[in-house]
Order: sequence, then structure tokens, then C-alpha cells
Amino acid sequence: MRLDKLLSDRGFGTRKDIKKLIQKQGAYINGTLTKDPGTHVTKSDQVVFDGKDILCDKFQYFLFHKPAGCVCANEDGAHDTIFKYVPNPRSQFFSVGRLDLDTEGLLLITNDGALAHHLLSPRHHVNKTYFARLDHAITEDDIHAFSEGIDIGDEDLTLPAQLVRANEAGDEIYLTIQEGRFHQVKRMFLARDNEVLYLRRDSMGPFALDDSIPIGTYRALTAEEIQMIMKNQE
Ligand code: URA
Repeated sequence: MRLDKLLSDRGFGTRKDIKKLIQKQGAYINGTLTKDPGTHVTKSDQVVFDGKDILCDKFQYFLFHKPAGCVCANEDGAHDTIFKYVPNPRSQFFSVGRLDLDTEGLLLITNDGALAHHLLSPRHHVNKTYFARLDHAITEDDIHAFSEGIDIGDEDLTLPAQLVRANEAGDEIYLTIQEGRFHQVKRMFLARDNEVLYLRRDSMGPFALDDSIPIGTYRALTAEEIQMIMKNQE
């Protein structure tokens, strides 16, 4: 595929704009700078444009550090969506699971539906760890109740979840769950007469927030990271 087509497919602009940009600032292919928009790239090439790792594969995967104030949807009449921050050519990308409008944290964004399905299924026991600030301190009873499963008004109890204190006062916590029910974390604490005041997802499966994704930014998964999730999928 031509370099300019790849970059326009990935949402960096029209073919015409991209041609000009490549001629001006260039792109790195396997570490070598090129300013020729017609350069041929294949699946195995590593392309870096505008400081971003561009995958040449059909499927793409991004880790996004969601800020509060945007929703996980392709369109929304009332709020910004996550795609204000992440390019979404031809609206083919979506987030794997959702975070609430006021929740921050890690989201995997992809156009690979099969992978999304796998990661979302509670059967596959993908751990998601959240940090929360609560209205008041948790108790040992709460920790025990979370480990047994909580009645949040659904047909089934939640799956066993691991609750640990994140500060001495006990009003900041880490919670690891393997499901993604609607408003699950907030409802689990409400069921224990507590309230989530701030919520952030810190990790999901093998991926965690780190300094490489400041809030409001994203990065493409590396080839090694993609291989890792493909392996887990087998
Ligand atoms: N649980 C919630 O209550 N909200 C989120 O955004 C994610 C998990």
C-alpha cells in the first residue's frame, strides 16, 4: 500500500493533505526518513508519522487515557466523544467496553470486533483494576462482601472482586473485577451504602496506564503487545 493512502486511511487527513505533509515533514519507515508519499509499505514495516507509531495491519489497536467529560460512543448529541481525541476514519473504531462520562482511565480502542468480544466476555476473566475515591472508608466487611460477590439488583451476584485500600484512611481503594456491567463499580459501592466520588480505570488485562499516555492522549499498541493479546485469545 502507498504511504499516503495508509496515513489517510488512519485518519490523518485527505490524500492531498497527507501528500503535502509527507513532502514537508516526512515519515519514518523502519527508522529511515522518507519524504516520498508514494513509498510502498507492507504489513511488516514500522511506520512512524507525526511521532505516532502507525500500524500497517488491517486491524489497529490503541490505548487511550480517557479524561472525564467525554462518552464512549461514535456520536453523541450532548457530549464530546472519545473520538474528539482519537482519529476515527470512517467511524470504524470503537472502544472495548465503556467508561462513564465522569470516569477517567484506560480504554482499548480498535476496529477488531472479535478481539473486543473476547476481552469483554466475563468467561475469559480479564481483570480490570479501578482506583476510586469514596465518600467514606471501606471496612473489612466490605472487603469480604466484595470477595463473595455483591447483589447490585441484577439477576446474578457480581463475580468475586478484589478490594484493597489505597490509602491509610481507607477512603481510596483499588478494585479488581472481571466483568463490565453497567455502572458496575458505582453500583457495587452503592450496595454497600458508600459512594464513588472519583473513578479511574488503571489497567485492563495486560495493559496499564503509564507515563506514555498522559490523560487525553493515546498510543498504538506495539507489535509485541498485539502478539501478546492474540496469544491470550487462543
Ligand atoms: N464502573 C462504573 O461504575 N463506571 C465506569 O465508568 C466503569 C466501571
